[in-house]
Amino acid sequence: MGETLRLGYVGCGFMAQKVHIPNFASIRECRLVALAEVRRKLGHKVQARFGIPRLYPDHEALLGDPEVDAVAVSADWAIQGEIARDALLAGKHVFMEKPMAISVSQAMGIVEAARRSNRQLMVGYMKRYDAGNELAKAEIDAFRASGELGPITFARNHGFCGDWVAGLDAPMDTTDEPYPRTPARGPDWLPAEFLPRYLQYLQQYTHNINLLRWLLDAGDRVGVRAVDLDDDGYTGVVVLDMAGVRAVLESGSLSHYRWDEHTQVYFRDGWVKAWAPPLLLRQVPAEVEVYRAGSQQSFTRPIPRPQAWTWSYRREAEHFVRCVLTGEPVRSSGEDTLTDVRLFEEIYRAYLRGRGVL
Ligand SMILES: NC(=O)c1ccc[n+]([C@@H]2O[C@H](COP(=O)([O-])OP(=O)(O)OC[C@H]3O[C@@H](n4cnc5c(N)ncnc54)[C@H](O)[C@@H]3O)[C@@H](O)[C@H]2O)c1
Repeated sequence: MGETLRLGYVGCGFMAQKVHIPNFASIRECRLVALAEVRRKLGHKVQARFGIPRLYPDHEALLGDPEVDAVAVSADWAIQGEIARDALLAGKHVFMEKPMAISVSQAMGIVEAARRSNRQLMVGYMKRYDAGNELAKAEIDAFRASGELGPITFARNHGFCGDWVAGLDAPMDTTDEPYPRTPARGPDWLPAEFLPRYLQYLQQYTHNINLLRWLLDAGDRVGVRAVDLDDDGYTGVVVLDMAGVRAVLESGSLSHYRWDEHTQVYFRDGWVKAWAPPLLLRQVPAEVEVYRAGSQQSFTRPIPRPQAWTWSYRREAEHFVRCVLTGEPVRSSGEDTLTDVRLFEEIYRAYLRGRGVL
C-alpha cells in the first residue's frame, strides 16, 4: 500500500453522514474517492457536500473501481454483511458497521471471503477504540500480571441505554426516495415471529459482549450459563462464562438523558470500572475508576494520555486506515466477532428453550 488509502463509502445514511464520512474525510492519510448510494438524490447531495469525486448507483458498481483500495459500509443489518462479503471478494479491504452478520452461517461466509481474499475486515466496535476503555484494559492487564489485586472474581456490563445521539449537530441530508428494504434472514432455527426481537437485542448488545470479551482477553473461550429475558426478548440478565470468569450482561431501556452503561471487572481486592459516554458525544471517552480495596482503600480516576478528550469513532477510523496502510492486524476483526454472532444465537436458543418455544 502507498501512503494514502483511497476509500470508497457505501450507504450514506445516518451513521455515514453523522459519523463515518466526516471522520474518514478528516484523516490526512485517507482520501474519499467514491460513494455508492442506491437512493440517487441522496447520493448526489452527500457527494456534493463532501466533494467526493465519483458516485455509483450501488455497491457493486463501486467495487469495479480500480482506484478504490478499501470500502467502508454502513447499511441495514440484513444487507451490510453481504456488501462487505462482495467487497472482500472484489479485493477490497473493508471497514463495516456492526453487527457483521445476523446468523452464524452468514458470518462464516463473510469471514471465509476475508480469508480467501487475504484482505483486512474490521467491524466497527468503536468501544474497543475508546481511549477510556483502552486505559481500563491496560489497568486490568497490569493487575492481572502483577497479581496486586488478586484474581478476577466477576465482571459485569450494565447497559440500559438512553440518549445515544446527545445532540450531535452534524448536518444530515435526507430524501423522499423509498428506503431499500432487504428481507432479513436470521438463523434457520429461529421462528420468524422472534426475528425482530432477536435483531433488536443483537444489534444493541453485540457492543457490550464484544467489549467484555476484549477486556477479559476471552477470545472464543466464551459460553452461555444462564438467560433470563422478559417477553420483549430484550430486558433482563444473561450470565456468561468468559475464559473462566462469570460475566453478567444487564440489558434494558431507560429514558435517560445520558447513556446508562458501565462495565466493571472485580478482583478479590478491588475493581476497574468504566462509564460509557453517550455514543455520539464527540471528544468524550469513557471515565475510568480504579478501586484498591484490601489494606490500601483508595480510588483513582486515571485520565487518558496524551489526549484527555477524544472520540471513539474517530479513533476506530484512524485505526482502520493505519492497519490497512501498514498491514498491522485490526483489533476488531471479522474473525474475532464470529464469537459474538455465535453467542447471540446461543442466548436466544436458551431464551426460547426456557419459554418452551423450541
Ligand atoms: N456503532 C454504532 O454505535 C452504531 C450506531 C447506530 C447504527 N449502527 C449501525 O450502522 C448501520 C447503518 O445504520 P444507519 O442508521 O446509518 O442506516 P441508514 O438506513 O440511515 O443508512 C443506510 C444507507 O445505505 C443505503 N444502501 C442500502 N443498500 C445499499 C447498497 N447496496 N449500495 C449502496 N447503498 C445502499 C440506504 O439507501 C441508506 O441510505 C446499521 O447496521 C447499524 O447497526 C452502529
